[in-house]
Amino acid sequence: MEDKGKTVCIVGAGFSGLCTAIKIKRKLPTYSITIYDSNDDFGGTWLVNTYPGCACDIPSHLYSFSFEPNPSWSSQYPSQIEILMYMKTLAQKYNLYARARFRHEVKQLEWLEESMKWEVNVLDSKTNQRHSLRYDFVFCGTGEYHLPNSPGIFSSFKGSMMHSAEWNPEFQLEGKTVAVVGSGASAIQIIPSIAQQVGKLLSYQRTPAWVISRLQFNIAPWVQWAFATIPGMRRLYRTSIYLANEIQYPAFQIQGLLSHVARPIAILLGKLHLRRQVSNSDLRAKLLPNYSLGCNRVCLSNEYYPALMRDNVEVIRDDIIQVTQDSIVTKDRRDKIDVLILATGFRIHEYFGPMEIVGRKGENILRKWKVDGPSIYLGIVSHLMPNLFFIHGPGVDLGHNTGLFTIECQVNWILQMVNEMEGKGASAVSVKESVEQAYMLRHQRDMKNTIWSSNDCGSYYANSQGLITIVYPRSQIDYWLRTLKFNPDNFEFLMRR
Ligand SMILES: Cc1cc2nc3c(=O)[nH]c(=O)nc-3n(C[C@H](O)[C@H](O)[C@H](O)COP(=O)(O)OP(=O)(O)OC[C@H]3O[C@@H](n4cnc5c(N)ncnc54)[C@H](O)[C@@H]3O)c2cc1C
Ligand SMILES: NC(=O)c1ccc[n+]([C@@H]2O[C@H](COP(=O)([O-])OP(=O)(O)OC[C@H]3O[C@@H](n4cnc5c(N)ncnc54)[C@H](OP(=O)(O)O)[C@@H]3O)[C@@H](O)[C@H]2O)c1
Repeated sequence: MEDKGKTVCIVGAGFSGLCTAIKIKRKLPTYSITIYDSNDDFGGTWLVNTYPGCACDIPSHLYSFSFEPNPSWSSQYPSQIEILMYMKTLAQKYNLYARARFRHEVKQLEWLEESMKWEVNVLDSKTNQRHSLRYDFVFCGTGEYHLPNSPGIFSSFKGSMMHSAEWNPEFQLEGKTVAVVGSGASAIQIIPSIAQQVGKLLSYQRTPAWVISRLQFNIAPWVQWAFATIPGMRRLYRTSIYLANEIQYPAFQIQGLLSHVARPIAILLGKLHLRRQVSNSDLRAKLLPNYSLGCNRVCLSNEYYPALMRDNVEVIRDDIIQVTQDSIVTKDRRDKIDVLILATGFRIHEYFGPMEIVGRKGENILRKWKVDGPSIYLGIVSHLMPNLFFIHGPGVDLGHNTGLFTIECQVNWILQMVNEMEGKGASAVSVKESVEQAYMLRHQRDMKNTIWSSNDCGSYYANSQGLITIVYPRSQIDYWLRTLKFNPDNFEFLMRR
C-alpha cells in the first residue's frame, strides 16, 4: 500500500535511529520511513563492539527505552549481546527490518530550497552503486563513537592488529604477548577479560583512568517476575537509578556548594578503590590520575585493577615513540609483541563525518563546524538545516547519566515540532538564527562552570580550537525540562512557493 504521508530518512540504526523510527511509527503512522545504516543490522555501538567483556556502564533498567521496558534483564550491567538482542527484538516488534537498508552508507545530504526537501545520496556497498532520493525530513542518528581512531604511528606494525571496535575473534591470544594501547572504558573491559589467557599483557597507558567500583549482580528470576508483574515496581527502580546518577551532576561543576562537597567525595571514592585493589605502591603511583575525576568518562570496574596486579601483566606509562613491524618502542624499552589491540577510542570531533551535509545557501556544514565548532540549538537543530534533526549529536553527551533518556527527550520534542508544522500547513521548519546564537552563547557560558573547562582536564571533549563541543554543561533534568515543550515562537515555518 502507498504511504500517504511525508517521507523520512533516518541515518543510523543504533539506539537513536531505533527510537526515532518507533516513535514515528507510533505517532505519525502515515509517514514513510527509510533507515539507512552502513552496518548489516540494527545495533550501532552494540553491533560492532564485540570485544570480550563489552557491557554497559549504566544499569540496563535505565539503559533501555522508558516506553519499551524489559523486565527480564539478567543482571544490573548486562553484556553487549543482551543489549543487542533487546534492540533487535524491538526492530522486529515494530516491523522495522522492512524499512531498513543495511550496508547503505549515506554519503551526502543536500537541502533543496525550491522543493524544501533533502536530497540524500546513498552508496549501496553490496552493489557499489550510488543513488539519490528526496525526503521531507532527515533524522541524523550517526553516533559519536562510530569512527574508530587508529593513530597512524601503529600502521607500521605487521603482526595481528585490531581496534577494540573491530574485534577479530580469529586472532589467537592464548600464550601470546599482547599489547593493549589505551586506558579508557574499552581497555578497562578488555584487559581483565583476556589477561588470564594471554602469555604476557603489556598495558600502554598515556593517561590512567579514574576507576570506581561497580555494583554488579544477577537479577534473580523472582525479581524479574516482580518487575513484570507488580505495577510500578520497574518504573520505581528505573527512576531511582536515574536519580542516583543525576545527583552526581554537581561533581562535574566547578562552582556551588554541592560541587565543593561532591567533587572531593568522588575523588576520594576513586582513590579508595585504587588503594583497596592495588597493594603494590609503585603500581598505584602509576595508576593514580593527575587530573580531575570526570574529565573523561569515569570507568566502573571491580576486575580491572586486580588484572593489572597479575604477574603476566605490566603497565607501561612512557609515551610510545616508535612502532616497528613487530615491536613497540618507548624511551627505555623495546617490546616485541604478537598481537596489538588498539583501545584508542573514536574520532568524536568528526560529528556526522565523513557524511557531507550541504545546508541552506550551499553551506558545507562539516567544514563550517570544523572551523567554528557546531552551532546547534538544543543539540538538535540548526538554522542552516531546516527539517534536519540530530539525535544524540553534538553538545548533549553527559558525564554522569545516560544518553538514552536524552534521545527520547529529543525525539518527543521533534515530533511536537512536526505536529505544529503540520497544523500550520508548512513544508519546513527552521530554528531562528538569533535563538540558536543565544542558545550557543549560554551553552559556552555554562561550560565555563564545568570541570571540562578547568586547566587540568586536557582536551578529551574539546575540539582542535579548544571549544568543548561534545557535552551538555548542565544536568539531565535541565535538558529534559528544556525539551518538554516545543515553543513555536523560536521557529520559522516555511511555506513552499
Ligand atoms: C563500547 C561502548 C560502550 C558504551 N557504553 C555505554 C553505556 O554503558 N552507557 C551509555 O550511556 N553510553 C554508552 N556508550 C555510548 C553509546 O554509543 C550510546 O549510548 C548509544 O549507543 C549511541 O547510540 P546512537 O544510535 O546515537 O549511535 P550508534 O550506536 O553509534 O549508531 C550510529 C549508527 O549510525 C551508522 N552510521 C553513521 N554514519 C552513517 C552514514 N553516513 N550512513 C549510514 N549509516 C551511518 C553507524 O553505522 C551506526 O550503526 C558506549 C559506547 C561504546 C563505543
Ligand atoms: N559501557 C562502558 O563501560 C563502555 C565501554 C567502552 C566504551 N565506552 C564509551 O565509549 C567511549 C570511548 O571509550 P574508549 O575506551 O573506546 O575510548 P577513549 O575513552 O577515548 O580512550 C582512548 C584511550 O586511548 C588512548 N590513546 C589514544 N590515542 C593514543 C595514542 N596515539 N597513543 C597512546 N594512547 C592513545 C587515550 O589516551 P589519552 O587519554 O592520553 O588520550 C585513552 O586512554 C567513552 O565515552 C566510553 O565511556 C563505554
